[in-house]
Amino acid sequence: MSMPKTPSGSSLIGLDIAGSFFAPIQDAAPPSPTKRHTIKISIIGTGNVGMAIAQTILTQDLADELTLVDALPDKLRGEMLDLQHAAAFLPRTTISASTDFSATAASDLCIVTAGARQNPGESRLNLLHRNVNLFRKIIPPLVEYSPDAILLIVSNPVDILTYVAWKLSGFPSNRVIGSGTNLDSSRFRFLIADHLDVNAQDVQAYIIGEHGDSSVALWSSISIGGVPILSFLEKRQIPYEKATLENIHKEVINCAYEVIKLKGYTSWAIGYSVANLARSILRDQRRIHPVSVLAKGFHDIDGGDVFLSLPAQLGRGGLLGVINVPITDEEAERLRESAKTILEVQAQLGV
Ligand SMILES: NC(=O)c1ccc[n+]([C@@H]2O[C@H](COP(=O)([O-])OP(=O)(O)OC[C@H]3O[C@@H](n4cnc5c(N)ncnc54)[C@H](O)[C@@H]3O)[C@@H](O)[C@H]2O)c1
Repeated sequence: MSMPKTPSGSSLIGLDIAGSFFAPIQDAAPPSPTKRHTIKISIIGTGNVGMAIAQTILTQDLADELTLVDALPDKLRGEMLDLQHAAAFLPRTTISASTDFSATAASDLCIVTAGARQNPGESRLNLLHRNVNLFRKIIPPLVEYSPDAILLIVSNPVDILTYVAWKLSGFPSNRVIGSGTNLDSSRFRFLIADHLDVNAQDVQAYIIGEHGDSSVALWSSISIGGVPILSFLEKRQIPYEKATLENIHKEVINCAYEVIKLKGYTSWAIGYSVANLARSILRDQRRIHPVSVLAKGFHDIDGGDVFLSLPAQLGRGGLLGVINVPITDEEAERLRESAKTILEVQAQLGV
């Protein structure tokens, strides 16, 4: 069901206002034959996460058209109207909503956030079976209506659902990306910045691997203002506690659970994180983000197709490349362990 744009229109006062308001221009040239490509983003799932992404995308002027899809028509229409009513304060974007996937036709980017919400204390893996069935209803119509789109998966467990989306879509792997540890890495950067009282934007730090409990913090590649921090401390013989580092990583892992316990869900940080990925992709920024990509072959990950986060370059073609980042044997072993666990679960899905 497609949502009517607004409850009323210019017909309200019985006049064709648009047609009579502007006087015709004398000797106007026809529009330039060079057609500017309009950018269309569709968001599937207008819950807390989908709407946080939508509002960040609007404020950052990332799309000409934004289409929302959800299974709940009233909630969907309410969200669409609420965003449309902010038009006077936002860059111009056409916002539409529908429970029918045909509304997503010709999207450049489809962001999937639909899914069952993680309950307090529930592991991300427990969500899986509920969400795989959902994806069987969502991915095929998205592909049918936007065969050239890039799919950006956010629903949890994100690594496995990105694999599921890749399999169900039949898309090449560069056009199916999971938001992965982009959020974990921003939490990591915030905590390091907070610890050292510097700006998080000056902290380069990556969490890779599984989005969640078995993620891997890349300590040796942390730099602040371009200075690799651990080798700096070692060269100056400044002692630091390995336990302090481990505690920061533990805090990153616990962050999501804490926010969910306190407010019931997470939304703002994932909203900014995904809008940041959308910008890199659609504006061809060629920036490096830790996102979930087909990781087979990296760091001796084998045994099957598995999506895990690795530092990856994103641009208009989707995934442009993956950095084969130097990691320790212990870190590589942990990545392979995550891959093994994920592959065991995937084997039971029948996708
Ligand atoms: N990857 C990450 O870093 C990250 C971070 C936060 C949340 N998440 C995940 O994002 C997902 C959404 O979280 P939320 O808090 O917004 O949940 P939510 O319950 O608020 O929203 C989910 C939405 O999906 C919709 N939906 C369900 N079935 C649908 C269908 N068939 N078609 C269209 N829409 C459908 C629901 O109606 C609902 O509006 C969850 O899986 C959550 O775990 C991921």
